[in-house]
Amino acid sequence: MSLLDAARAVRDLAHAPYSGFPVGAALRSESGAVFVGCNVENVASPEGTCAETGAITAMVAAGQRRILEICIIADSPVPITPCGGCRQRIAEFAGPDTPVIMATLSGQIERATLGELLPGAFSPRHRGRG
Ligand code: THU
Repeated sequence: MSLLDAARAVRDLAHAPYSGFPVGAALRSESGAVFVGCNVENVASPEGTCAETGAITAMVAAGQRRILEICIIADSPVPITPCGGCRQRIAEFAGPDTPVIMATLSGQIERATLGELLPGAFSPRHRGRG
C-alpha cells in the first residue's frame, strides 16, 4: 500500500466530531515500515491531537526514530500543510530534505521538503547537542 493510500485509509478512522475535518497521516520510517495516525479531537479542545502526532507516536512506540517521508491528507479545497507544532514534531525525527507530501481527497498533491516548511527549525544544536 502506498503512503498516500495508507493516509487516506486511516483518515476514515479519525475522531473529529467538533471540527468535522478528519485528517490522515502516514509516514515511512528508516526500517521501511509505515506508521499511520489520524486526528483525535476532544471535547476539551486543546486536548485534541493531530494526525501527524499520532503517526509519530506509533513510530516511536515501535522503536523507530527516523522519518524518511510523510504524507498528510484531508478533504480540503487545497492540500493541507502540517500545523506549526507538527512541523516541529516531524523535525525531531527528520531532516530539512525529508519529503512532505500533502494531498486532498480529490487528488491534488503538493510536495515540499521539511526545510521549506520549517526554515530555521529549532534543533538540538541550539541546545548544544550535535
Ligand atoms: N489537523 C491535523 O490533524 N493535522 C494538520 O496538519 C492540521 C490540522 C487537525 C486538527 C483538528 O482536529 C482538525 O484538523 C481541524 O483543525
